[in-house]
Amino acid sequence: MKAGRPSRTAQFVALGRALADAGLSHVPGFSDPTARVFLNDRGKRSLAKTERMAADGRRGMTFEGARRMADLLALRTTTIDGAVRQAIAGGARQLVILGAGYDGRAWRLAELEGVKVFEVDHPSTQGDKRARVAALPPPRGIVSFVPIDFERETLDTVLARAGHDKALPTCWIWEGVVMYLTHDAMRATLASIAARSARGSTLIVNYHTMHRGWLAGLIFRLIGEPQISTWSPDEMAADLRSAGFVVSEDSGMLDWNTRFARGEAKVHRGSYMRVVVAQNRHRGFIVP
Ligand SMILES: C[S@@+](CC[C@H](N)C(=O)[O-])C[C@H]1O[C@@H](n2cnc3c(N)ncnc32)[C@H](O)[C@@H]1O
Repeated sequence: MKAGRPSRTAQFVALGRALADAGLSHVPGFSDPTARVFLNDRGKRSLAKTERMAADGRRGMTFEGARRMADLLALRTTTIDGAVRQAIAGGARQLVILGAGYDGRAWRLAELEGVKVFEVDHPSTQGDKRARVAALPPPRGIVSFVPIDFERETLDTVLARAGHDKALPTCWIWEGVVMYLTHDAMRATLASIAARSARGSTLIVNYHTMHRGWLAGLIFRLIGEPQISTWSPDEMAADLRSAGFVVSEDSGMLDWNTRFARGEAKVHRGSYMRVVVAQNRHRGFIVP
């Protein structure tokens, strides 16, 4: 991230969700009305331009690119929403969103009513988000904003300070973050997550199995947020296992397309995007 500036990639994915909310994706009924509220001026202009193209029936490369982006984000979001709902139904009383960016779940998911939601993020992005949430209706969850610079502070310290209870089951979302970390940094944070995960906790991780094409890679480097790490599903399962988590599901973009978009989304180029859901192995025991 560039010093003192909100994350550009966090804005980028919020734009994808806003485009999907505007009806551009192939996922029937997809809705995330929070996304457009979080957009900066540039994002709002892109959204308005694409909505005009849709209304006028103009189809070109730009429009098709916007549709693909809407599909990628709608499919990823729908998959993670499902895993969060399942974790809450299974007894998780806290939700921790790591690198939350402009995640709107705390405002959007009715299942989070009464659930403590810890939004953990870099202060530059979080400050910008906090300035924008005033335009939203009150959140469903009980939101705490927890600033952190992962390069300087530990998750354990900031969550303890914010009132996260490690004796209660937690649902963790780690979406759009681990690809920006080294494997060592990912494992260090994973150890902190494990140490604060009581029985019945669920960890949801979005990861990539390969690097993006050179042009996308260059763009991410130029904006100061290079994607540096990939995992195979087996490597990810092994990392999670060594932190005490057992994988219950690992699925990818092509599975989600079949599941949520009848296979109609043109997302084959995003087939490297995956989501793994894992549970704390110490189910039935309280982890001290
Ligand atoms: C691609 S965004 C993902 C946002 C969100 N999870 C989503 O999927 O919409 C990456 C997030 O990681 C956060 N981040 C990057 N470097 C960080 C650091 N050193 N400490 C804390 N957060 C960081 C950014 O602020 C940003 O919100």
